[in-house]
Amino acid sequence: MSTVAVFPGSFDPLTNGHVDIISRGARLFDRIIVAILVNAEKRPLFTMDERVEIVRHVFRDRPNVEVDTFDGLLVDYVERRQAQVIVRGLRAVSDFEFEFQMTLMNRRLSPGIETVFMMPAEQYTYISSRLIKEVFSLGGRVHGLVPELVEQRLRGKV
Ligand code: PNS
Repeated sequence: MSTVAVFPGSFDPLTNGHVDIISRGARLFDRIIVAILVNAEKRPLFTMDERVEIVRHVFRDRPNVEVDTFDGLLVDYVERRQAQVIVRGLRAVSDFEFEFQMTLMNRRLSPGIETVFMMPAEQYTYISSRLIKEVFSLGGRVHGLVPELVEQRLRGKV
């Protein structure tokens, strides 16, 4: 039986930290579905189409990486896709509390789904989508922290 993992998130935008986790997941699982939450934020910077396009572009040479969108409960989506695993990235201790709550809630809702945490390479441990947007909007350099296509698209948004 093949193991399918779901990597859920807002991806507004995709960062190199996300790319690192997805690549690790793609080596570990038979298939990894990058599941972008619809309406995660009321006013995302990147449209859903842009976010899907960016992930698709970055992983165009990785056939076991799929991109999809979802709304509603994550565990319902995971069950619908017949996946067994939720992948989440852990950067710092500060991530732990929220992730711990989500994992236990998801386990209560659907005990058969296992959450697996992965740590990104250390050079990405301080990156978040929120910080990328803030730094870029204030004129800071984000080169090397996000894929090229994200950088291009950010430039188009100023
Ligand atoms: O990129 P993010 O914002 O850290 O991702 C958070 C996400 C999408 C994983 C979380 O908000 C989520 O799972 N939302 C779907 C609704 C849901 O299932 N909520 C209960 C989680 S315990």
